[in-house]
Amino acid sequence: MADDTIIVSADGSHTLESSRFGVTYHSRHGAILESLTVFLSAGFHHRRLNGATSLKVLEMGLGTGLNALLTLVESDRFKTSVWYTAIEKFPISAADADRLNYLSELSIQSYKTSFHKIHDLSHSDNYTSLSDYFRFRKWIIDIQEIPSTESYDIIYYDAFAPNAQEELWTPSMMQRMYDCLSPSGVLVTYCAKGSFKRALKAAGFKLDPLPGPPGKREMTRAVKL
Ligand SMILES: C[S@@+](CC[C@H](N)C(=O)[O-])C[C@H]1O[C@@H](n2cnc3c(N)ncnc32)[C@H](O)[C@@H]1O
Repeated sequence: MADDTIIVSADGSHTLESSRFGVTYHSRHGAILESLTVFLSAGFHHRRLNGATSLKVLEMGLGTGLNALLTLVESDRFKTSVWYTAIEKFPISAADADRLNYLSELSIQSYKTSFHKIHDLSHSDNYTSLSDYFRFRKWIIDIQEIPSTESYDIIYYDAFAPNAQEELWTPSMMQRMYDCLSPSGVLVTYCAKGSFKRALKAAGFKLDPLPGPPGKREMTRAVKL
C-alpha cells in the first residue's frame, strides 16, 4: 500500500484508495457495512445457517484483511471451523495494516495479534491457526493462476470493479471459480453488472440476486448446482 491513501468511509471505518488501480478497496458508503452485508451475511452466515459447521473459504483479494478479520471473529462467535485461503497479488505490509481502524471500530482489540499476523504471514500451502476455529493461509499469486486442485464452500469474490479490472470478471474467470467450488458452494460479490451475471450463468451458476449494502441496490450470490 506504500502509496495507497487511507480514507474514512461513511460508517467511520477505513478503506484504502489504490494508487495502482485508482479505486477504493471498499464502498465509500461504509467499508465494514459492505463487508458484513456482502461477504459475512450472504456468504458465511448463509452457509452456516444452512447447517455447515466447517467451511472452506477462498477470498479473491485479501487487501486490508477486513473480510478475513470479520470471518475470524464470527467463526469464533459461532464456533464454526473455517479454513481460509486468501489470494493477493499486491499485499500490503503488516505495518500499514496496523494503521487501519477496524479493531477500534469493532471494539475487538483482543484480535490485534491475529490481524497483524494475517498480514505478516508469508505465502504458504500450510494453514496457521489464528484461533480455536479459524485457520488461515495466504497465497501471493495472481488469481488467474489459481490451481483448480482444491475445492471451497464459499468464494468471497472481491476484485476491484470491472471498470478497473475487466479481465477478472470474464466468462473464463467465472468458469475457473465454478471449478473451484464444491457442490452447493457459493460465490458472493458486491458486483451485479449485467455482463458479469451473464458470465456466471454461462459457467453454470444459479443466481440469487440480493439487496446490496448502502449505496448499492443489488449484490450477487451465485450458487453451484
Ligand atoms: C477490492 S480490493 C479487496 C478488498 C479486501 N477484500 C479487503 O477486505 O480489504 C481488491 C484486491 O485484489 C487485489 N488484486 C488485484 N488484482 C489481483 C490479481 N490479479 N490477483 C490477485 N489479487 C489481485 C488487489 O491488490 C486488492 O487488494
